[in-house]
Amino acid sequence: MKVFIIGVSGAVGRLLAGDLVERGDDVAGLVRRDEQRAELAARGVAAHVGELADLTVDSLAELLAGSDVVVFTAGSNGGARQITAAIDGEGAVKTLDAARLAGVGRFALLSVLPEAGRGQDLGEDVEFYFAVKKLVDVTVSMSDLDWLILRPSLLVDRDGIGTISLGPAQPHDEIPRQDVAATLAALLHEPRIRRQILEVTQGSTPIAWAVLAHLRPRRWPEG
Ligand SMILES: NC(=O)c1ccc[n+]([C@@H]2O[C@H](COP(=O)([O-])OP(=O)(O)OC[C@H]3O[C@@H](n4cnc5c(N)ncnc54)[C@H](OP(=O)(O)O)[C@@H]3O)[C@@H](O)[C@H]2O)c1
Repeated sequence: MKVFIIGVSGAVGRLLAGDLVERGDDVAGLVRRDEQRAELAARGVAAHVGELADLTVDSLAELLAGSDVVVFTAGSNGGARQITAAIDGEGAVKTLDAARLAGVGRFALLSVLPEAGRGQDLGEDVEFYFAVKKLVDVTVSMSDLDWLILRPSLLVDRDGIGTISLGPAQPHDEIPRQDVAATLAALLHEPRIRRQILEVTQGSTPIAWAVLAHLRPRRWPEG
């Protein structure tokens, strides 16, 4: 499978790329600096250097052409509003449009639990971030592509444990980035998981089983 990751230099993007390379996939992505490109190349990931905010839909589509799936894991993590708007917002929608233009059928988005910051008075920039993320989820879920949205709870950097809790609604808790990346890799390898928003947090179900539990029939049964 040919996978293109926007956000491949980030913590989750990098872990996802590693998992996919291990599975034998052909992994490419977009980075902002040449040293990131060189470091990823040494790990078997073909990165292209470019600024997402400056790329047009057409120029991005040229990079995505030939991929089987595009994954968007980039984002401001609730930082400056301008970056949230340009990357989490316009950048994600631009990538969706470019995937469609390039004829890539499948689009996966790493989003966030919408209620993650509720009641914590995290400030206007973070409120803006959650609003932008939700709007992008709406746009992606209304697209005609074979889309998938994964919303993790709070990302932490301890080692993954290989078990999760995955479903259409999960409590806001926390989850190691390694487990999120492994879940995304498993979801990408299961084409029967499509047009679904799934939330993920730490839990006790082995990742492969958790993914299998969300298979949907391609058509409604007759009768
Ligand atoms: N933090 C949480 O608890 C949490 C919870 C749920 C969901 N999420 C979502 O998960 C995503 C991935 O998290 P992560 O830990 O992997 O984040 P990360 O390590 O900060 O990676 C963010 C990625 O976005 C790119 N990026 C950031 N600003 C950019 C800009 N101005 N222009 C172009 N690219 C830019 C980074 O590129 P560079 O390497 O060049 O900076 C990097 O590839 C987040 O964006 C967030 O939406 C986070």
